[in-house]
Amino acid sequence: MSESASRSDKIAPIAIIMGSRSDWPTIKVGAGLLRQLGVSYEAKVISAHRTPDRLVRFSKGADARGVQVIIAGAGGAAHLPGMVAAMTHLPVLGVPIQSHVLSGLDSLLSIVQMPAGVPVGTLAIGEAGAKNAAIMAASIVGLSDEALMDRVKAYRTALTESVAETVED
Ligand code: RP5
Repeated sequence: MSESASRSDKIAPIAIIMGSRSDWPTIKVGAGLLRQLGVSYEAKVISAHRTPDRLVRFSKGADARGVQVIIAGAGGAAHLPGMVAAMTHLPVLGVPIQSHVLSGLDSLLSIVQMPAGVPVGTLAIGEAGAKNAAIMAASIVGLSDEALMDRVKAYRTALTESVAETVED
């Protein structure tokens, strides 16, 4: 039996992790979109500096558990996405949380400036990034799940159709 065939279908293909519970109000916007797209996810609080052992356990075990894409939200000196990416070959999508002190610019630069070789796909700061990370994660999983990809396409079609061409007062 191949590695993928031996994995349980019940395993959520998308893992959402965040550096703190305080990141959830931002991240949950993306989680809601994943529910809307009908793709399952697991959500965990994993801090690179406060719970380093949890970080290592999660990162090294994600592939074997059947996770296909990881969304990692973090704020401030946001090293979580890069640290996860260092310990797994799975695609990691980083969401910079809008921090209070620097409005998320600190988070963005911490996540986006990965040295060559260990990529983190970095999205926009805040809720837009959380949403786009969810859509991108669904598209990645959709590459091997036609029904899911059809739902992603339908979502995008609905988005296009929601934009009126004329301007009304
Ligand atoms: C980061 O520190 C978290 O991702 C969060 O955005 C930020 C602040 O965390 P709390 O002090 O609110 O727990 O690790």
